[in-house]
Amino acid sequence: MIKTIGMLTGGGDCPGLNAVIRAVVKTAINRYGLRVIGFKDGYRGLVLNDYREVDLSDVSGILDKGGTILGTSNKDNPFKYLVTSKEPNEYKDMSDVCVENLVKLGIDCLIAIGGDGTLTSARDFYRKGLNVIGVPKTIDNDLSATDTTFGFNTAVTTATDAIDKLHSTAESHHRVMILEVMGRYAGWIALEAGIAGGADVIIIPEIPYDICKISEKIIERKTDGKNFSIIVVAEGAKPLDGDLVVCKVVKDSPDPIRLGGIGNKLAEDIEKQIGIETRVTVLGHLQRGGHPTAYDRILSTRYGVKAVELAVEGKFGNMVSLQGKDIVYVSLEEAVGKVKNVKSDNDLIKAGRSVGVSFGD
Ligand code: F6P
Repeated sequence: MIKTIGMLTGGGDCPGLNAVIRAVVKTAINRYGLRVIGFKDGYRGLVLNDYREVDLSDVSGILDKGGTILGTSNKDNPFKYLVTSKEPNEYKDMSDVCVENLVKLGIDCLIAIGGDGTLTSARDFYRKGLNVIGVPKTIDNDLSATDTTFGFNTAVTTATDAIDKLHSTAESHHRVMILEVMGRYAGWIALEAGIAGGADVIIIPEIPYDICKISEKIIERKTDGKNFSIIVVAEGAKPLDGDLVVCKVVKDSPDPIRLGGIGNKLAEDIEKQIGIETRVTVLGHLQRGGHPTAYDRILSTRYGVKAVELAVEGKFGNMVSLQGKDIVYVSLEEAVGKVKNVKSDNDLIKAGRSVGVSFGD
C-alpha cells in the first residue's frame, strides 16, 4: 500500500498542467487518503530537496489557470545536472541524491508530468528501482505513445484565433500573411490550426517546401480574384534545398536548439519572387499560456486521475495515454525517445489537399 505520492512538472509549461495537479491531489486525498508532496521547478526541486506538501486548498480554483503552481524547468536533467555555469560547464549525475531525498520524505511513488525529456528521466529513475508514473504533456503533440498530449488543443485553438484575426487584415491590405507557430520538429500545431483557420498554405517540417509552389498558389488565388493569402508555417519547417532556421542555442539546456525565424525567411523569399507585400506574425509563447480549453481540462483531469489509480494499483514504470477514447497506459520504455511526426498519408493532409490547401510540395 502506498501512502505518499511525489509529483513534479518538468519541461516547457503548457495549459492543463494545473488541471493534472488538481486531479492528482483530489484523487489521492479524497479517494485514497494519501499525502501529496510537490517538488518545485521540475527535477531541480528533487535534486535540491525543494518541496511543499500540496493539499486540497492549494488546488482549489486552479482548474482553468495556465502555467503550473509547482513551477517548471526545461534545463535540469537529474542524470546530467549542471553544477557550475562557468565555462566549461560541469555536469554531475545527481540521481542518487534524488533517490535519497525521496526515501527521506517517505515517497512511495513519483508522478512526473512532462514531455520527452522529463519522461526519459522518469524512465531512467524506474530503471534505478524507483516507483514512477508518467503523464504526457506538450503543446507539440509529438509523443509517440499517446494520441494526444494535453496542452496541444489549447495551442491549436490559440493559433486558430490568430489565423482568424489575420484574415481580415490580410484581405483589407491585399497582403500575404504568414503565421509562424511552434511545434519543434513536428507539424501538428501548424496542420491542425491551418485546417481549422482555413489557411491557403500550410508548411510543416515533414514536407520540405518548394518556394515556387508557394508562390504559384498565391498567384493562382490572385488570378481567381483573391488578393490575399494566409500561410501557416511550423517553426521546424525547411525548404527542399535548405536547413532549419535556428533562432537561439541555449547552451545549458539538455535540448539546446531553439527554432524560429522560418516565417521571416519565407516572407523575404516570397516578396523577392513575386513582389507581393508579405507580413509575418510569430505567435511564440502565447501558444503555451492562458486558460486551457475545455478539451484540455478534461484530458488533464482524466490523466491525473489515472496516474493516481496506477500508483495505487502498483503499476509503476508506465505513462498514462489516450488511445482512441480511452485512457490507458503504456510502459515508459516504449513511450520515450521517439518523435511522433505527421505522416504523408495523414487524414488531415488529405482533407487539406481536397479543399485546396497547398503544402508547398
Ligand atoms: O516543446 C514546447 C515548445 O514550446 C516548443 O514548441 C518550442 O520550440 C520550445 O518549447 C520553446 O522553448 P523555450 O520555452 O525554451 O523557448
